[in-house]
Amino acid sequence: MKLHIVKNKKELAEKAYEVLLDVINSKDEVSLGLATGSSPEGIYEIFRREKPDVSHVTTVNLDEYVGLSADHDQSYAYFMNEHLFKHLKFKATHLPNGLSTDHAAECARYDEVLAANTPDLQLLGIGTNGHIAFNEPGASFELTTNVAELAPATVEANSRYFETPADVPTHAFSMGIKSIMQAKKILLIASGAGKAQAIKGMIEGPVTHELPASVLQTHVDVTVIVDAEAASLLRNDSMH
Ligand code: GLP
Repeated sequence: MKLHIVKNKKELAEKAYEVLLDVINSKDEVSLGLATGSSPEGIYEIFRREKPDVSHVTTVNLDEYVGLSADHDQSYAYFMNEHLFKHLKFKATHLPNGLSTDHAAECARYDEVLAANTPDLQLLGIGTNGHIAFNEPGASFELTTNVAELAPATVEANSRYFETPADVPTHAFSMGIKSIMQAKKILLIASGAGKAQAIKGMIEGPVTHELPASVLQTHVDVTVIVDAEAASLLRNDSMH
């Protein structure tokens, strides 16, 4: 893993944008795996400001809540439209359809989308419990797109976005770890002290289902960009 430690969220977004732009400008047809959450917001802000040419770029998002429509203001489709898709003209954009009722068919459809658009780069955040997309502790490394049950800690973390606890979705369509590992390059970003333990485990700990992001140690091309707080528990020798 290549590790970059930056001062703050602003520098993190700038550095990550550079990595994404290199991939975008690297060839005529590009597939970008995108993520939601607060971590990538600063990156998408730079996209809105710089307006790079993305007419040759197809995007595939990691996940979507089961039961939320694309116009629900907490759906990931809505997030992506507001932050990115309505501001720049991508070739095509893909997310799982949160309203599909035939879950197996929707997962199979999304696997086909991914097979046709293997990400040249997959952007990832990380949950405080080490989850990536919605692959929670204990998730198999062999899964492709699946319906994941959110861990109680994740439901709790996400409840800040919903009016009542009962409104917080408990399930999501999510790329599986096997799907994520197929990306040619992975860029994981994290900021804040709340992520420090997960970042330490991901980089220094054993590869374990208990901390799903640790599987990234086995991928050939991973770049990690963290701010000083998220890096605060790393051993000195991990930082070089
Ligand atoms: C959610 C998403 C993840 C994301 C995580 C962290 O659970 N499914 O893809 O990485 O939240 O979110 P944040 O960046 O807001 O801390």
